[in-house]
Amino acid sequence: MSNENKYDREKSLAAQEAVKYIEEGMVIGVGSGTTTAYFIKYLGEKVRNGLNVIAVPTSDKTAELCKYEGIPLVTTSIPKQVDVTVDGADQFDSKLSLIKGGGGDLLREKIVASATKREIIIVDSRKQVEVLGVTFALPIEVIPFAWIKVAEEVKKIKGNPILRLKSDNSYFITDQGNYILDCKFNSIPEPEELAAKLSTIPGVVEHGLFINIASKVIMGKGEEVYDFQPEVSISKVITERVQKDSIDEIFKKIDRVVKLGEKPVVELDVDLTTYKPISRTIKALKIAGETYKIPEFLEPQNKFDLLPGYTPEAWTSFLSRNKLPEKYPELRWIGDKDGTGSNASVYSAFHIAFWRTEWLAEDILTEGLISFISEIENRGGIPVFISGRWKEEQFEPTKEVLIRGGIKNPILVIGKPSHDGKGPLSDAENKAMRQQEIREKYGTPIAIIDDRLENRVAVCKANSDIDMLSVGISISGFTYDEEITGIPIKLSTFQFEK
Ligand code: 5RP
Repeated sequence: MSNENKYDREKSLAAQEAVKYIEEGMVIGVGSGTTTAYFIKYLGEKVRNGLNVIAVPTSDKTAELCKYEGIPLVTTSIPKQVDVTVDGADQFDSKLSLIKGGGGDLLREKIVASATKREIIIVDSRKQVEVLGVTFALPIEVIPFAWIKVAEEVKKIKGNPILRLKSDNSYFITDQGNYILDCKFNSIPEPEELAAKLSTIPGVVEHGLFINIASKVIMGKGEEVYDFQPEVSISKVITERVQKDSIDEIFKKIDRVVKLGEKPVVELDVDLTTYKPISRTIKALKIAGETYKIPEFLEPQNKFDLLPGYTPEAWTSFLSRNKLPEKYPELRWIGDKDGTGSNASVYSAFHIAFWRTEWLAEDILTEGLISFISEIENRGGIPVFISGRWKEEQFEPTKEVLIRGGIKNPILVIGKPSHDGKGPLSDAENKAMRQQEIREKYGTPIAIIDDRLENRVAVCKANSDIDMLSVGISISGFTYDEEITGIPIKLSTFQFEK
Protein backbone atom coordinates (compact mmCIF):
# COMPACT_ATOMS: atom_id res chain seq x y z
CA MET A 1 0.00 0.00 0.00
CA SER A 2 1.38 3.46 -0.86
CA ASN A 3 1.97 5.88 2.00
CA GLU A 4 -0.88 8.06 0.83
CA ASN A 5 -3.28 5.12 0.95
CA LYS A 6 -1.92 4.02 4.31
CA TYR A 7 -2.65 7.39 5.95
CA ASP A 8 -5.99 7.73 4.19
CA ARG A 9 -6.91 4.33 5.61
CA GLU A 10 -5.88 5.48 9.11
CA LYS A 11 -7.96 8.65 8.77
CA SER A 12 -10.93 6.65 7.61
CA LEU A 13 -10.66 4.19 10.53
CA ALA A 14 -10.50 7.03 13.08
CA ALA A 15 -13.50 8.72 11.46
CA GLN A 16 -15.57 5.50 11.52
CA GLU A 17 -14.84 5.16 15.23
CA ALA A 18 -15.84 8.78 15.91
CA VAL A 19 -19.22 8.35 14.21
CA LYS A 20 -20.10 5.83 16.96
CA TYR A 21 -20.27 8.75 19.41
CA ILE A 22 -23.03 10.50 17.49
CA GLU A 23 -26.55 10.05 18.84
CA GLU A 24 -30.05 10.97 17.75
CA GLY A 25 -30.91 14.65 18.21
CA MET A 26 -27.37 15.88 18.79
CA VAL A 27 -25.94 19.23 17.77
CA ILE A 28 -22.59 18.31 16.21
CA GLY A 29 -19.61 20.54 15.59
CA VAL A 30 -17.92 19.47 12.37
CA GLY A 31 -14.25 20.29 12.00
CA SER A 32 -12.21 20.88 8.87
CA GLY A 33 -9.56 19.02 6.94
CA THR A 34 -9.11 15.75 5.13
CA THR A 35 -9.67 13.50 8.17
CA THR A 36 -12.89 15.27 9.04
CA ALA A 37 -13.99 14.84 5.42
CA TYR A 38 -14.14 11.07 6.10
CA PHE A 39 -16.23 11.74 9.19
CA ILE A 40 -18.65 13.85 7.12
CA LYS A 41 -18.98 11.00 4.63
CA TYR A 42 -19.86 8.45 7.38
CA LEU A 43 -22.16 10.90 9.13
CA GLY A 44 -23.92 11.52 5.80
CA GLU A 45 -24.60 7.78 5.48
CA LYS A 46 -26.19 7.73 8.94
CA VAL A 47 -28.30 10.80 8.21
CA ARG A 48 -29.60 9.20 5.02
CA ASN A 49 -30.51 6.17 7.11
CA GLY A 50 -32.73 8.33 9.31
CA LEU A 51 -30.47 9.87 12.00
CA ASN A 52 -31.62 13.36 13.01
CA VAL A 53 -28.77 15.70 13.86
CA ILE A 54 -27.82 19.24 13.14
CA ALA A 55 -24.26 20.20 12.22
CA VAL A 56 -22.28 23.33 13.03
CA PRO A 57 -19.58 23.67 10.34
CA THR A 58 -16.18 25.16 11.19
CA SER A 59 -15.40 26.31 7.64
CA ASP A 60 -17.10 27.12 4.36
CA LYS A 61 -15.56 23.97 2.85
CA THR A 62 -17.01 21.81 5.63
CA ALA A 63 -20.41 23.46 5.15
CA GLU A 64 -20.27 22.54 1.45
CA LEU A 65 -19.34 18.91 2.18
CA CYS A 66 -22.15 18.61 4.74
CA LYS A 67 -24.66 20.02 2.26
CA TYR A 68 -23.46 17.55 -0.37
CA GLU A 69 -24.04 14.69 2.11
CA GLY A 70 -27.49 16.05 3.04
CA ILE A 71 -26.56 16.85 6.65
CA PRO A 72 -28.72 19.68 8.05
CA LEU A 73 -26.67 22.74 9.04
CA VAL A 74 -26.83 25.62 11.43
CA THR A 75 -26.11 28.49 9.11
CA THR A 76 -26.49 31.54 11.31
CA SER A 77 -24.57 31.99 14.56
CA ILE A 78 -23.28 29.15 16.68
CA PRO A 79 -25.81 27.60 19.11
CA LYS A 80 -25.28 28.02 22.86
CA GLN A 81 -24.13 24.48 23.26
CA VAL A 82 -22.76 21.83 20.95
CA ASP A 83 -22.99 18.20 22.15
CA VAL A 84 -20.00 16.73 20.33
CA THR A 85 -17.47 18.15 17.93
CA VAL A 86 -15.37 15.93 15.70
CA ASP A 87 -12.31 17.63 14.27
CA GLY A 88 -8.81 16.85 12.99
CA ALA A 89 -5.45 18.11 14.25
CA ASP A 90 -1.95 18.68 12.95
CA GLN A 91 -0.22 17.43 16.11
CA PHE A 92 -1.17 16.16 19.57
CA ASP A 93 0.89 15.38 22.68
CA SER A 94 0.31 13.20 25.74
CA LYS A 95 -1.73 15.89 27.49
CA LEU A 96 -3.87 16.10 24.35
CA SER A 97 -2.68 19.63 23.67
CA LEU A 98 -3.02 20.22 19.96
CA ILE A 99 -1.68 22.25 17.09
CA LYS A 100 -4.43 23.04 14.64
CA GLY A 101 -4.89 25.35 11.70
CA GLY A 102 -2.98 23.50 8.99
CA GLY A 103 -6.04 24.09 6.82
CA GLY A 104 -6.42 27.66 8.05
CA ASP A 105 -9.71 27.17 9.88
CA LEU A 106 -8.50 27.47 13.46
CA LEU A 107 -10.62 30.46 14.46
CA ARG A 108 -14.02 28.92 13.86
CA GLU A 109 -12.68 25.55 15.04
CA LYS A 110 -11.74 27.12 18.37
CA ILE A 111 -15.02 28.99 18.70
CA VAL A 112 -17.03 25.83 18.07
CA ALA A 113 -14.75 23.85 20.43
CA SER A 114 -15.35 26.42 23.18
CA ALA A 115 -19.10 25.77 22.99
CA THR A 116 -18.66 21.99 22.89
CA LYS A 117 -19.28 19.51 25.69
CA ARG A 118 -17.10 16.80 24.16
CA GLU A 119 -14.35 17.46 21.62
CA ILE A 120 -13.24 14.35 19.74
CA ILE A 121 -10.09 14.65 17.63
CA ILE A 122 -9.47 12.21 14.78
CA VAL A 123 -6.01 11.75 13.32
CA ASP A 124 -3.68 9.48 11.43
CA SER A 125 -0.55 8.14 13.10
CA ARG A 126 1.75 10.95 11.89
CA LYS A 127 0.08 13.41 14.23
CA GLN A 128 1.24 11.94 17.54
CA VAL A 129 4.31 13.76 18.94
CA GLU A 130 6.27 13.96 22.18
CA VAL A 131 6.64 17.75 22.00
CA LEU A 132 4.49 20.06 19.90
CA GLY A 133 5.96 22.33 17.25
CA VAL A 134 9.21 20.52 16.42
CA THR A 135 8.15 19.41 12.97
CA PHE A 136 5.11 21.62 12.38
CA ALA A 137 4.86 25.40 12.26
CA LEU A 138 2.19 26.91 14.52
CA PRO A 139 -0.50 28.71 12.49
CA ILE A 140 -1.58 32.09 13.83
CA GLU A 141 -4.52 33.97 12.31
CA VAL A 142 -3.82 37.70 12.08
CA ILE A 143 -5.62 40.84 10.99
CA PRO A 144 -4.08 41.73 7.57
CA PHE A 145 -3.37 45.32 8.71
CA ALA A 146 -1.25 43.98 11.59
CA TRP A 147 0.64 41.08 10.05
CA ILE A 148 4.08 42.72 9.82
CA LYS A 149 3.90 43.93 13.43
CA VAL A 150 2.69 40.55 14.66
CA ALA A 151 5.51 38.84 12.77
CA GLU A 152 8.01 41.12 14.54
CA GLU A 153 6.53 40.22 17.94
CA VAL A 154 6.64 36.51 17.13
CA LYS A 155 10.33 36.80 16.26
CA LYS A 156 10.96 38.33 19.71
CA ILE A 157 9.66 35.14 21.31
CA LYS A 158 11.84 32.99 19.09
CA GLY A 159 9.30 32.03 16.47
CA ASN A 160 10.09 32.20 12.79
CA PRO A 161 6.93 33.49 11.08
CA ILE A 162 6.16 32.96 7.40
CA LEU A 163 3.14 34.52 5.78
CA ARG A 164 1.05 31.74 4.25
CA LEU A 165 0.66 31.95 0.49
CA LYS A 166 -1.42 29.91 -1.92
CA SER A 167 0.13 27.80 -4.68
CA ASP A 168 -0.20 30.73 -7.11
CA ASN A 169 1.74 32.91 -4.62
CA SER A 170 -1.28 35.04 -3.74
CA TYR A 171 -2.06 35.57 -0.03
CA PHE A 172 -3.95 32.79 1.73
CA ILE A 173 -7.12 34.41 3.09
CA THR A 174 -9.15 32.71 5.83
CA ASP A 175 -12.94 32.41 5.76
CA GLN A 176 -12.98 35.45 8.03
CA GLY A 177 -10.81 37.52 5.66
CA ASN A 178 -7.59 37.31 7.70
CA TYR A 179 -4.01 36.14 7.01
CA ILE A 180 -2.16 33.17 8.50
CA LEU A 181 1.38 33.34 9.82
CA ASP A 182 2.96 29.87 10.05
CA CYS A 183 5.39 30.22 12.94
CA LYS A 184 8.22 27.78 13.34
CA PHE A 185 9.28 27.45 16.97
CA ASN A 186 12.06 24.94 17.52
CA SER A 187 9.76 23.18 19.95
CA ILE A 188 6.81 24.12 22.17
CA PRO A 189 7.44 22.29 25.47
CA GLU A 190 5.17 24.67 27.44
CA PRO A 191 2.18 25.32 25.18
CA GLU A 192 0.25 27.16 27.94
CA GLU A 193 2.99 29.69 28.33
CA LEU A 194 3.30 30.34 24.61
CA ALA A 195 -0.48 30.54 24.23
CA ALA A 196 -0.63 33.19 26.96
CA LYS A 197 2.07 35.24 25.26
CA LEU A 198 0.47 35.02 21.82
CA SER A 199 -2.93 36.07 23.13
CA THR A 200 -1.52 39.38 24.30
CA ILE A 201 -0.12 40.42 20.89
CA PRO A 202 -2.40 43.03 19.30
CA GLY A 203 -3.49 41.89 15.86
CA VAL A 204 -3.50 38.17 16.71
CA VAL A 205 -7.04 36.96 16.09
CA GLU A 206 -6.38 33.39 17.27
CA HIS A 207 -3.55 30.90 17.46
CA GLY A 208 -3.53 27.20 16.69
CA LEU A 209 -2.69 25.92 20.18
CA PHE A 210 -5.71 24.05 21.52
CA ILE A 211 -5.05 23.33 25.20
CA ASN A 212 -7.42 21.52 27.56
CA ILE A 213 -9.94 21.29 24.77
CA ALA A 214 -9.76 17.71 23.47
CA SER A 215 -11.75 15.17 25.51
CA LYS A 216 -10.27 12.35 23.48
CA VAL A 217 -8.08 11.68 20.47
CA ILE A 218 -8.88 8.76 18.19
CA MET A 219 -5.89 7.74 16.12
CA GLY A 220 -5.80 5.27 13.27
CA LYS A 221 -2.52 3.36 13.02
CA GLY A 222 -2.11 0.55 10.54
CA GLU A 223 -5.34 -1.41 10.87
CA GLU A 224 -5.81 -0.47 14.57
CA VAL A 225 -7.66 2.35 16.25
CA TYR A 226 -6.11 3.91 19.38
CA ASP A 227 -8.01 5.99 21.88
CA PHE A 228 -6.21 8.61 24.02
CA GLN A 229 -7.64 10.38 27.07
CA PRO A 230 -5.96 13.47 28.52
CA GLU A 231 -3.29 12.65 31.06
CA VAL A 232 -4.62 14.30 34.22
CA SER A 233 -1.69 16.40 35.32
CA ILE A 234 -2.36 16.60 39.02
CA SER A 235 0.42 17.58 41.37
CA LYS A 236 2.29 14.88 43.23
CA VAL A 237 0.67 15.83 46.52
CA ILE A 238 -2.79 14.52 45.78
CA THR A 239 -4.03 11.38 44.19
CA GLU A 240 -6.48 11.10 41.33
CA ARG A 241 -8.94 9.52 43.76
CA VAL A 242 -8.88 12.56 46.07
CA GLN A 243 -9.28 14.85 43.08
CA LYS A 244 -12.26 12.86 41.77
CA ASP A 245 -13.99 12.55 45.15
CA SER A 246 -13.61 16.26 45.82
CA ILE A 247 -15.19 17.25 42.52
CA ASP A 248 -17.99 14.69 43.00
CA GLU A 249 -18.66 16.11 46.47
CA ILE A 250 -19.10 19.61 45.02
CA PHE A 251 -21.45 18.40 42.27
CA LYS A 252 -23.54 16.36 44.73
CA LYS A 253 -23.86 19.33 47.02
CA ILE A 254 -25.02 21.51 44.12
CA ASP A 255 -27.68 18.90 43.22
CA ARG A 256 -28.94 18.74 46.83
CA VAL A 257 -29.25 22.49 47.18
CA VAL A 258 -30.93 22.86 43.77
CA LYS A 259 -33.51 20.27 44.88
CA LEU A 260 -34.28 22.47 47.87
CA GLY A 261 -35.14 25.24 45.41
CA GLU A 262 -32.10 27.37 46.27
CA LYS A 263 -29.29 28.72 44.12
CA PRO A 264 -26.00 27.09 45.12
CA VAL A 265 -22.96 29.36 44.76
CA VAL A 266 -19.50 27.90 44.24
CA GLU A 267 -16.89 30.50 45.17
CA LEU A 268 -13.62 30.22 43.28
CA ASP A 269 -10.51 32.13 44.22
CA VAL A 270 -8.57 33.62 41.32
CA ASP A 271 -4.77 33.63 41.85
CA LEU A 272 -3.19 30.18 42.16
CA THR A 273 -6.65 28.58 42.06
CA THR A 274 -8.40 29.33 38.78
CA TYR A 275 -5.51 31.31 37.27
CA LYS A 276 -1.96 30.12 36.70
CA PRO A 277 0.29 33.16 36.75
CA ILE A 278 3.23 31.43 35.03
CA SER A 279 4.53 34.22 32.87
CA ARG A 280 4.44 37.03 35.46
CA THR A 281 5.87 34.80 38.20
CA ILE A 282 8.89 34.14 36.00
CA LYS A 283 9.26 37.81 35.12
CA ALA A 284 8.88 38.92 38.75
CA LEU A 285 11.47 36.37 39.92
CA LYS A 286 13.90 37.68 37.34
CA ILE A 287 13.40 41.26 38.57
CA ALA A 288 13.91 40.23 42.21
CA GLY A 289 16.95 38.20 41.11
CA GLU A 290 18.50 41.16 39.33
CA THR A 291 17.84 43.52 42.24
CA TYR A 292 19.20 41.19 44.91
CA LYS A 293 21.81 39.37 42.79
CA ILE A 294 20.37 35.89 43.06
CA PRO A 295 21.50 33.99 39.95
CA GLU A 296 19.01 31.13 40.43
CA PHE A 297 16.14 33.62 40.06
CA LEU A 298 17.36 34.65 36.63
CA GLU A 299 16.55 31.28 35.10
CA PRO A 300 13.73 29.94 37.26
CA GLN A 301 12.56 27.24 34.86
CA ASN A 302 15.99 25.61 34.82
CA LYS A 303 16.71 25.97 38.51
CA PHE A 304 13.44 25.13 40.25
CA ASP A 305 11.00 22.27 39.86
CA LEU A 306 8.14 24.43 41.19
CA LEU A 307 7.58 28.17 40.84
CA PRO A 308 6.85 30.11 44.03
CA GLY A 309 3.27 30.85 45.01
CA TYR A 310 3.07 34.58 45.79
CA THR A 311 1.54 34.28 49.27
CA PRO A 312 3.92 34.48 52.24
CA GLU A 313 3.17 30.83 53.06
CA ALA A 314 3.81 29.55 49.55
CA TRP A 315 6.88 31.77 49.20
CA THR A 316 8.30 30.36 52.43
CA SER A 317 7.67 26.81 51.14
CA PHE A 318 9.49 27.73 47.95
CA LEU A 319 12.52 29.10 49.80
CA SER A 320 12.86 26.16 52.14
CA ARG A 321 12.27 23.42 49.53
CA ASN A 322 15.13 24.94 47.49
CA LYS A 323 17.33 25.49 50.56
CA LEU A 324 17.71 29.11 49.53
CA PRO A 325 17.75 30.80 52.98
CA GLU A 326 20.91 28.87 53.85
CA LYS A 327 22.64 30.23 50.79
CA TYR A 328 21.13 33.73 50.83
CA PRO A 329 20.40 34.76 54.44
CA GLU A 330 18.60 37.96 53.34
CA LEU A 331 15.85 35.75 51.92
CA ARG A 332 14.81 34.83 55.45
CA TRP A 333 13.13 38.20 55.72
CA ILE A 334 9.72 37.90 54.12
CA GLY A 335 8.98 41.57 54.62
CA ASP A 336 5.55 43.09 54.62
CA LYS A 337 2.96 40.39 55.01
CA ASP A 338 0.35 42.10 52.86
CA GLY A 339 2.86 42.67 50.10
CA THR A 340 2.40 46.42 49.78
CA GLY A 341 6.14 46.71 49.40
CA SER A 342 6.55 49.09 52.32
CA ASN A 343 9.48 47.07 53.64
CA ALA A 344 12.30 46.34 51.25
CA SER A 345 12.94 42.62 50.90
CA VAL A 346 13.42 40.07 48.17
CA TYR A 347 9.84 39.00 48.73
CA SER A 348 8.45 42.50 48.28
CA ALA A 349 10.58 43.08 45.16
CA PHE A 350 9.06 39.89 43.75
CA HIS A 351 5.59 40.75 45.01
CA ILE A 352 5.49 44.26 43.57
CA ALA A 353 6.61 43.06 40.14
CA PHE A 354 4.23 40.09 40.28
CA TRP A 355 1.28 42.46 40.70
CA ARG A 356 2.06 44.75 37.76
CA THR A 357 -1.28 45.50 36.18
CA GLU A 358 0.04 45.25 32.63
CA TRP A 359 1.01 41.61 33.15
CA LEU A 360 -2.22 40.39 34.73
CA ALA A 361 -3.91 39.48 31.46
CA GLU A 362 -1.09 37.02 30.65
CA ASP A 363 -2.41 34.50 33.18
CA ILE A 364 -3.84 31.25 31.92
CA LEU A 365 -6.70 29.22 33.34
CA THR A 366 -6.09 26.14 35.44
CA GLU A 367 -6.65 22.88 33.58
CA GLY A 368 -10.27 21.83 33.24
CA LEU A 369 -11.79 25.08 34.52
CA ILE A 370 -14.05 25.72 31.53
CA SER A 371 -15.72 22.30 31.66
CA PHE A 372 -15.98 22.50 35.45
CA ILE A 373 -17.74 25.87 35.25
CA SER A 374 -20.16 24.69 32.59
CA GLU A 375 -20.94 21.56 34.64
CA ILE A 376 -21.70 23.75 37.69
CA GLU A 377 -24.03 25.87 35.55
CA ASN A 378 -25.67 22.87 33.88
CA ARG A 379 -26.53 21.54 37.32
CA GLY A 380 -28.10 24.87 38.32
CA GLY A 381 -25.17 26.23 40.31
CA ILE A 382 -23.65 29.71 40.16
CA PRO A 383 -19.88 30.11 39.91
CA VAL A 384 -18.57 33.29 41.52
CA PHE A 385 -14.93 34.32 41.15
CA ILE A 386 -13.75 35.99 44.31
CA SER A 387 -10.39 37.67 44.62
CA GLY A 388 -8.42 39.81 47.00
CA ARG A 389 -7.02 41.81 44.06
CA TRP A 390 -7.39 45.28 45.44
CA LYS A 391 -6.96 47.89 42.74
CA GLU A 392 -9.69 49.10 40.44
CA GLU A 393 -7.46 48.78 37.36
CA GLN A 394 -7.05 45.07 38.14
CA PHE A 395 -10.70 44.38 37.36
CA GLU A 396 -10.56 44.48 33.54
CA PRO A 397 -7.48 42.24 33.04
CA THR A 398 -8.92 39.81 35.58
CA LYS A 399 -12.12 39.56 33.60
CA GLU A 400 -10.22 39.40 30.30
CA VAL A 401 -8.49 36.16 31.29
CA LEU A 402 -11.81 34.45 31.99
CA ILE A 403 -13.46 35.73 28.84
CA ARG A 404 -10.48 34.78 26.70
CA GLY A 405 -10.62 31.32 28.24
CA GLY A 406 -14.27 30.97 27.16
CA ILE A 407 -16.31 32.07 30.20
CA LYS A 408 -18.68 34.54 28.63
CA ASN A 409 -20.20 36.49 31.52
CA PRO A 410 -18.18 35.74 34.63
CA ILE A 411 -19.41 36.97 38.00
CA LEU A 412 -16.45 38.64 39.65
CA VAL A 413 -16.35 39.79 43.25
CA ILE A 414 -13.01 41.43 43.58
CA GLY A 415 -11.16 43.50 46.21
CA LYS A 416 -12.91 46.80 46.14
CA PRO A 417 -14.45 48.36 48.18
CA SER A 418 -12.75 46.73 51.14
CA HIS A 419 -9.59 48.71 50.73
CA ASP A 420 -11.47 51.99 50.47
CA GLY A 421 -10.38 54.10 53.37
CA LYS A 422 -10.12 51.10 55.67
CA GLY A 423 -6.47 50.39 55.24
CA PRO A 424 -5.17 47.22 53.69
CA LEU A 425 -7.44 44.43 54.83
CA SER A 426 -5.96 40.97 54.59
CA ASP A 427 -7.15 38.73 51.78
CA ALA A 428 -9.13 36.68 54.28
CA GLU A 429 -10.81 39.69 55.96
CA ASN A 430 -11.69 41.06 52.56
CA LYS A 431 -13.25 37.83 51.37
CA ALA A 432 -15.20 37.37 54.60
CA MET A 433 -16.59 40.87 54.19
CA ARG A 434 -17.96 40.13 50.72
CA GLN A 435 -20.05 37.12 51.84
CA GLN A 436 -23.20 39.05 52.73
CA GLU A 437 -23.19 40.65 49.29
CA ILE A 438 -22.70 37.25 47.58
CA ARG A 439 -25.65 35.79 49.50
CA GLU A 440 -27.91 38.74 48.69
CA LYS A 441 -27.00 38.97 45.01
CA TYR A 442 -26.31 35.40 43.88
CA GLY A 443 -27.46 32.64 46.26
CA THR A 444 -26.30 30.22 48.94
CA PRO A 445 -22.55 29.61 49.15
CA ILE A 446 -21.92 25.87 49.19
CA ALA A 447 -18.16 25.70 48.58
CA ILE A 448 -15.08 27.87 48.64
CA ILE A 449 -12.16 26.71 46.50
CA ASP A 450 -9.01 28.59 47.47
CA ASP A 451 -5.31 27.86 47.78
CA ARG A 452 -5.04 29.74 51.09
CA LEU A 453 -6.25 28.09 54.27
CA GLU A 454 -6.87 31.39 56.06
CA ASN A 455 -9.19 32.52 53.26
CA ARG A 456 -11.17 29.31 53.37
CA VAL A 457 -11.51 29.50 57.14
CA ALA A 458 -12.64 33.15 57.00
CA VAL A 459 -15.22 32.51 54.27
CA CYS A 460 -16.66 29.44 56.04
CA LYS A 461 -16.81 31.38 59.33
CA ALA A 462 -18.66 34.26 57.68
CA ASN A 463 -21.23 31.67 56.52
CA SER A 464 -21.26 29.69 59.75
CA ASP A 465 -25.03 29.04 59.52
CA ILE A 466 -24.43 27.12 56.25
CA ASP A 467 -22.46 23.91 55.99
CA MET A 468 -19.89 25.00 53.38
CA LEU A 469 -17.25 22.82 51.76
CA SER A 470 -13.74 24.10 52.28
CA VAL A 471 -11.73 22.94 49.27
CA GLY A 472 -7.97 23.54 49.33
CA ILE A 473 -6.21 23.54 46.00
CA SER A 474 -2.58 23.40 44.93
CA ILE A 475 -2.28 24.00 41.20
CA SER A 476 0.43 22.10 39.39
CA GLY A 477 3.74 23.85 38.92
CA PHE A 478 3.60 26.10 42.01
CA THR A 479 4.43 25.81 45.68
CA TYR A 480 1.54 26.09 48.11
CA ASP A 481 0.89 26.48 51.78
CA GLU A 482 0.39 22.91 53.00
CA GLU A 483 3.95 22.52 54.14
CA ILE A 484 3.30 25.47 56.43
CA THR A 485 -0.30 24.79 57.48
CA GLY A 486 -0.27 20.98 57.39
CA ILE A 487 -3.89 20.91 56.14
CA PRO A 488 -4.38 18.46 53.25
CA ILE A 489 -5.56 19.89 49.99
CA LYS A 490 -8.31 18.40 47.85
CA LEU A 491 -7.75 19.56 44.29
CA SER A 492 -4.92 20.15 41.91
CA THR A 493 -6.84 20.96 38.73
CA PHE A 494 -10.52 21.23 37.78
CA GLN A 495 -10.37 18.19 35.52
CA PHE A 496 -13.02 15.55 35.99
CA GLU A 497 -14.30 12.54 34.12
CA LYS A 498 -17.17 13.45 31.86
C1 5RP B 1 -7.73 22.96 9.86
C2 5RP B 1 -7.26 22.00 10.88
C3 5RP B 1 -7.26 20.56 10.53
O1 5RP B 1 -8.08 19.88 11.40
C4 5RP B 1 -5.85 20.03 10.60
O2 5RP B 1 -5.07 20.81 9.71
C5 5RP B 1 -5.76 18.55 10.21
O3 5RP B 1 -6.09 18.37 8.87
P1 5RP B 1 -6.02 16.94 8.15
O4 5RP B 1 -7.09 16.12 8.81
O5 5RP B 1 -6.30 17.26 6.72
O6 5RP B 1 -4.65 16.40 8.38
O7 5RP B 1 -6.91 22.34 11.97
O8 5RP B 1 -7.59 24.27 10.31
